[in-house]
Amino acid sequence: MKFVKDLKRTSYCGLLNKSNAGQKVVLFGWVNTRRDHGSLVFIDLRDREGIVQVVLDPSLAGNSAAHDLRGEFVVAIEGLVRTRPEGMVNKKISTGEIEIEALRCEVLNVAATPPFQIDDENVGEMLRLKHRYLDLRSPRLQRHLKLRHNVAQLVRQFLASNGFMEIETPILYKSTPEGARDYLVPSRVNPGNFYALPQSPQILKQLLMISGYDRYFQLARCFRDEDLRADRQPEFTQIDIEMSFIDQDDIMELNERLLRLIWKEVKGVDIATLPRMTYQEAMDRFGIDKPDIRFGLEIKELKATVTNSGFKVFDDVIARGGIVRGIQAPGGGTFSRGQFDKLTDIAKKSGAKGLVWIKWEASGAISSPISKFFNEEKLKEIVTAVGGKQGDAALIIADDFDTACASLSTLRIHLGRELKLIDTTKDKFLWVVDFPLLEYSPDDKRWVARHHPFTSPQDQHAEWMMAGDESKYGQLLAKAYDLVCNGYEIGGGSIRIYRSEVQQAMFRVLGMNQEETQNKFGFFLEALKYGTPPHGGIAWGVDRLVMILCGTDAIREVIAFPKTAKATCLMSDCPSEVNRDQLAEVGVKLSPLAEKALEEYRKAHNQSV
Ligand code: AMO
Ligand code: AMP
Repeated sequence: MKFVKDLKRTSYCGLLNKSNAGQKVVLFGWVNTRRDHGSLVFIDLRDREGIVQVVLDPSLAGNSAAHDLRGEFVVAIEGLVRTRPEGMVNKKISTGEIEIEALRCEVLNVAATPPFQIDDENVGEMLRLKHRYLDLRSPRLQRHLKLRHNVAQLVRQFLASNGFMEIETPILYKSTPEGARDYLVPSRVNPGNFYALPQSPQILKQLLMISGYDRYFQLARCFRDEDLRADRQPEFTQIDIEMSFIDQDDIMELNERLLRLIWKEVKGVDIATLPRMTYQEAMDRFGIDKPDIRFGLEIKELKATVTNSGFKVFDDVIARGGIVRGIQAPGGGTFSRGQFDKLTDIAKKSGAKGLVWIKWEASGAISSPISKFFNEEKLKEIVTAVGGKQGDAALIIADDFDTACASLSTLRIHLGRELKLIDTTKDKFLWVVDFPLLEYSPDDKRWVARHHPFTSPQDQHAEWMMAGDESKYGQLLAKAYDLVCNGYEIGGGSIRIYRSEVQQAMFRVLGMNQEETQNKFGFFLEALKYGTPPHGGIAWGVDRLVMILCGTDAIREVIAFPKTAKATCLMSDCPSEVNRDQLAEVGVKLSPLAEKALEEYRKAHNQSV
């Protein structure tokens, strides 16, 4: 370490440019690439800010290590910055106009040959995740983590300057329901008892409002044991915000300002006032509560057009109170049978029982699996009704509202991508408001909170909820709002119930008896009694936000140490077995089922991302 002692870094490699020409610098970094020409050795030296070319003359005493340098060796370079000769400029890197003439090169540490070249974009993700610390050296992840850091700083500054206090809340806690399963932690000192990792700090931030800290925020880690997708991780970070003495518009206005600041600072883009759309309108027009409004292909109602056709699928669905709706497929007049089959598969995967298509070719010919039931004029009328014309196709689904919406929305997104209808150079935002308060869960045979059980009903519906009239539950609207960007929900929040008896009524509506309510939320109901201010808040998904800002569609790309879709870490191989004594200590014994699964896991041990 004697070398580090007498050498102090003067600059990061990636930050040097022409203005530094003539300066003597000390750099620390990793050997990205090396070209040994015998009388001269060229290395690209990398640090977290980027790369700079270093030229070493091995005949100089200070450069005696030049021939020994290998990829990923850690080196210190003392040298002179000089402009590169005309014709040698590398326009691909920000330091491409200069290079470092090395006067001294010290190897601070050697490195084993890495399993992949750091900046090779074609390496499989499994391998990169296994050696995440190496992938994190790549310009791609350097850029993502830096952007994430910048966003976090912006958020902190903005909220602090708007009077918000950053307050930490516990990770070892009691269940805070957000609709997922809890991660449980056994307590050694209280055998048989468990903590739950917070799905969000929801209850805690409401308690802080009760305590009078009327503007709170936290960059909060949340844990949810749920099925993972490209935009979901088992642990993720929220910008968690709560305010007292405000209404919905105040929260939306503040968060819009924050959004504008982020886009301006990070992307240099001005965002106009966000449109607001009710949940019902979003579902009717886009089939989803987080619509991607960067393109059209809106869903159209067809019930009146197709009623009483004799086509049993449509007639039955209509008779049962379902819907028949469709979208156009621009240019679908040229689609092959195989393409329609693929679209049918996509629709079926999201729950539909089938897909009716109508193909109106540019020549005027029209075909459809339901041409027995509809004459040509009618088929054309349907294509027109979904917004198509000669040369296009119509895709139609008949089903209950939720299923038809889900399938049409999936088809719409698929076509949007496939037909390149999405302008990916622009981000489109909106607020979705007026969410239903409750939704019926056929699996649990009970009503569940759509957002979470602390969300307030809208004023006109509060009495219906208090009255316990189940026939009205489906119509109750919530004071809830989601912030949506490009088809992603980047944030969601609500105005909260702040009266103990209303909160109690909510738990009753959700089918919880007195005992269960008391066990789970007794402390909170008690707290609500001691002077709770009207309050509300929101939480943004930091990972999703940064993902959009980075222009990637994989959440793993913006997290330093992410988990796979199976919630594992390929690098450390966790979750992993623990020794039986340790289990006994915390009072846990594996079930025969878990033992068997473990046995099989040991045998197979083939994880996939
Ligand atoms: P909600 O559950 O909507 O609300 O979460 C808020 C935001 O967090 C992000 N998010 C996730 N990001 C990555 N992986 C996940 N598994 C994941 N789950 C959620 C989303 C989402 O919009 N306590 C309430 C907020 C409130 O009412 O104030 C809550 O947690 O971007
Ligand atoms: P079938 O009468 O089942 O052969 O279906 C005739 C056509 O209707 C096929 O193209 C099916 O994919 C389609 N179909 C079946 N059920 C539905 C549905 N619920 N919505 C839309 N199309 C459907």
